[in-house]
Amino acid sequence: MYAQMIKSEASTEDPKQLKEFQAKIDDNIKVEPRDWMPEGYRKTLIRQIGQHAHSEIVGQLPEGNWITRAPTLERKMILLAKVQDEAGHGLYLYAAAETLGVSRDDLTEQLLSGKMKYSSIFNYPTLNWADIGAVGWLVDGAAIMNQVPLQRTSYGPYSRAMIRICKEESFHQRQGYDIMMKMAQGTETQKKMAQDALNRLWYPSLMMFGPSDAESVHSTQNMAWKIKMNTNDELRQKFVDQTVPQAQYLGLTIPDENLTWNEEKGGYDYSDPDWSEFFDVLKGNGPCNVDRLEARNKAWDDGAWVRDGLMAHAEKKRAAKTAAE
Ligand code: 3HC
Repeated sequence: MYAQMIKSEASTEDPKQLKEFQAKIDDNIKVEPRDWMPEGYRKTLIRQIGQHAHSEIVGQLPEGNWITRAPTLERKMILLAKVQDEAGHGLYLYAAAETLGVSRDDLTEQLLSGKMKYSSIFNYPTLNWADIGAVGWLVDGAAIMNQVPLQRTSYGPYSRAMIRICKEESFHQRQGYDIMMKMAQGTETQKKMAQDALNRLWYPSLMMFGPSDAESVHSTQNMAWKIKMNTNDELRQKFVDQTVPQAQYLGLTIPDENLTWNEEKGGYDYSDPDWSEFFDVLKGNGPCNVDRLEARNKAWDDGAWVRDGLMAHAEKKRAAKTAAE
């Protein structure tokens, strides 16, 4: 339906302008906020950047939950810095989306009302400290795999935001792997916790790349517009190939009986996640969907006095400046 809407919008646009726009994309010239762009391109970017920004913000919840329970002061400081980074990523991305003519309040309202999506992964719980390691290792690892190519995306403000974000994400992935190393080399119980975290988070991490290429609604058009640089399955394969040796190094087992090296394709054959579970999570039925939206709505309501205070202060300053002129 969405793809149809994009097509029908394009049918009312000037074919010459559309052709010139596509030529610019093909020549790898960045599109900037004041440039002409097809309405479908603009809407798709708002959708993708908005969902991405929401993911950064909602993604703070499962990890933020462990700041007060980190096992050492050093781990607490690292986790605190990481969670703050995610807030910063959300802000860069909301700012990039705003250049397309949507307001941050509007995007926030759509998140809070459940109209806009955020990454499926954040609807899974973090039950213990090993999960924080697995989130950094797998979730941030999957995020980087998807986001490094997005540094070359065609929309200038998005591409520039991604360059800053990727620098920080690679630190996030390493801190997660470092936690996993400590756990995997620790006591028998700690090793079991690390394995259990991998067992629970492996398939949800594979889902982060989106549905299979056959089911992906937006890939074809978005790749033509270079909003997206790779298909979902391409990136998922790269993630599996990168992560399997890392698990082996930890002495942990990827929970997939079908995992085998395929010499011909130069990558691993692996089992797909349960796609019915993925679509169910997208519909709002994951283990934490309700909690996540409740937490975001509560934070928004609790922060109303801060926003009101800032607005009143800005208004006062503006009035004082006008009076002095
Ligand atoms: N979670 C939630 N929704 C998902 C999803 C996921 N893992 N994967 C796909 N979807 C949704 C799509 O948004 C689309 O829904 P919509 O039409 O209602 O918007 C639908 O499923 C069909 O999927 P498509 O493959 O057609 O969608 P896309 O072409 O948009 O591809 C994507 C999905 C690969 C996630 C792409 O949007 C993308 O690359 N986005 C930018 C990166 C991003 O959002 N990352 C979030 C990860 S978490 C993060 O960054 C936080 C970090 O700190 C860990």
